[in-house]
Amino acid sequence: MPENETTAPSLENLLHETRAFPPSSAFAAQANAQPSMYEDAAADRLGFWATQARDLVTWSTPFTQTLDWSGAPVARWFADGKLNAAYNAVDRHVEAGLGDRVALHFEGEPGDTRTVTYADLQREVSRAANALESLGVRTGDRVVIYLPMLVESVVAMLACARIGAPHSVVFGGFSADALRSRIADAEAKVVITADGGYRRGAPSALKPAVDEALAPKEGAPATTVEHVLVVRRTGQDVDWTEGRDVWWHDAVDGASEVHEPVQVEAEHPLFILYTSGTTGKPKGILHTTGGYLTQAAYTHKYVFDLKPESDVYWCTADIGWVTGHSYVVYGPLANGATQVLYEGTPDTPHRGRWWELVEKYKVSILYTAPTAIRTCMKWGEDVPAGFDLSSLRVLGSVGEPINPEAWMWYRRVIGGDTAPIVDTWWQTETGAIMISPLPGVTATKPGSAQVALPGIVADVVDDEAHSVPDGGGGYLVLSEPWPAMLRGIWGDLQRFKDTYWSRFEGLYFAGDGAKKDEDGDIWLLGRVDDVMNVSGHRLSTTEIESALVSHDVVAEAAVVGAADDTTGQAVVAFVILRGEHADRATTPEGAEEVQAELRNHVAVQIGPIAKPRRILVVPELPKTRSGKIMRRLLRDVAENRTVGDATTLADSSVMDLISAGLKKPSSNED
Ligand code: WT7
Repeated sequence: MPENETTAPSLENLLHETRAFPPSSAFAAQANAQPSMYEDAAADRLGFWATQARDLVTWSTPFTQTLDWSGAPVARWFADGKLNAAYNAVDRHVEAGLGDRVALHFEGEPGDTRTVTYADLQREVSRAANALESLGVRTGDRVVIYLPMLVESVVAMLACARIGAPHSVVFGGFSADALRSRIADAEAKVVITADGGYRRGAPSALKPAVDEALAPKEGAPATTVEHVLVVRRTGQDVDWTEGRDVWWHDAVDGASEVHEPVQVEAEHPLFILYTSGTTGKPKGILHTTGGYLTQAAYTHKYVFDLKPESDVYWCTADIGWVTGHSYVVYGPLANGATQVLYEGTPDTPHRGRWWELVEKYKVSILYTAPTAIRTCMKWGEDVPAGFDLSSLRVLGSVGEPINPEAWMWYRRVIGGDTAPIVDTWWQTETGAIMISPLPGVTATKPGSAQVALPGIVADVVDDEAHSVPDGGGGYLVLSEPWPAMLRGIWGDLQRFKDTYWSRFEGLYFAGDGAKKDEDGDIWLLGRVDDVMNVSGHRLSTTEIESALVSHDVVAEAAVVGAADDTTGQAVVAFVILRGEHADRATTPEGAEEVQAELRNHVAVQIGPIAKPRRILVVPELPKTRSGKIMRRLLRDVAENRTVGDATTLADSSVMDLISAGLKKPSSNED
């Protein structure tokens, strides 16, 4: 097994819990997925994808080529076809007579609601596209979207897609600094934001972060942003830059509701989404139009068994993450789904809020993250028991390995012991689901994502890239190109090749450890690189280390993800203070003050989501002779384990020093 793999429960524990749940015959009888899909895709993989692309997507110019892999690892799918993603998500449903179908049941955190039909959405997206054009946005220009979960967020993304202007959504939990670097890297022309949003019962401001991100800063390039489009959500006061800032309602509400979608080539960029990698600088993951939309629609239809006439679908992800792109916006809307869009947190104003929404809208398909499920487990069964959840018929999980206990709880308490659970493995880079059971076809096992979807070829390999036998463990790889795969890292082709394609010749290296059980089913075991997964959010150890050392008092920092019962992993930082500040941490009060300062500093540099749970001030860090920090040993400390084999350390007494220093009670838990 990979040396630094630790987050995962042992396979023995997993298998101990294992019990397969075969699909019920009633579900199988009406399932979208059919067993023959696996055979069809295996017999003619490209033919299978071409069929999906023709069945699920409307092309203004039909494609004649399926895959061009001559420029590997940059794939071209359906390259001579043309289409528009927003037309596919909205207009074609209206043209098919479904204009009155509800697309979005919006529910704000304070309880305000808005029902948006497909016809409403068509008008709104067209208006917004016209407004963006009048602000100077042209096909190919980049637009950054920094918004809470609002109807306007979906509209903004689709308006960009309608004019072929790639959007780059930045999660509202990122700081002004993080926003600035993303705006700069994408060279965005327009930023769409809001005055604020509602979170935990109070308005929370957004626009100040945009103002700060766009303010001139020494050493930073002048901003490329010409306009900021501002949605009024909370009504709170905002600073205004005349000539630059424009209210959404001023620009959009009066714009024409007729707009001709721009038909783009299949390989035209649809969006850039920044995600953390193993180095300090976030990567702009580039997705294009035709292949992405095909796989988003395909997976959404078959993995969730969507019946658009009768289902009410709800994915709880924020549009700031890829799950929100593929399974709130493009997949469900391409399939004509009716969905719930919720602005707020699960516990506001009470811990039953999600279940109240399930009951109210009769949600039949729910897609969420293991962290949320574990949090609900902690709150107790009697909370969901107070609501009628009988409408639920398919449950999805995504973002991190789901432990068997949480899986069983999800199935029993939320799914009434009947709804199949689909544990879906994929990444920002893969664009859409890759490994998952197909409900009605595949038996499910608590904790396993099971098998690659029809059309996807995944494997688990050892250090030499050899496929491991059933029962063996190693690294998850993808052996064949897939339609929604990333087409590169924005502006950095070499980094794309180095990151994903250099570890194993000809194979995409996902960065995850995995095992195959005796049936050949796949169990994901967490990251094997310097990427952490906190509440399903992806964070880079190196990025947080860079943030810490950019603070005056810090000489050196090492960050690890320590196992956590609720959030999967928690950020734990070890810091060495600079000589002149070292004595600040000698008293408990002083240490606390430094820790608070550093935590706040990380929130400013990256965002509150990256704040370390614990910061430990240490005299030394464990390093190999070549100077590499041995995170494995720090993880032992962070997880209160006996420190493992330290013989490769340059100075083997370091761990004793660290452990001795930490014997003192530590009061710095956030
Ligand atoms: C990483 C990708 C995919 C959308 C949300 C996260 C982990 C994701 C699973 C799963 C075990 C999972 C992996 C992956 N991951 N889904 N079902 N079981 N691990 O997207 O931020 O790009 O993170 O999330 O480690 O590499 P992301």
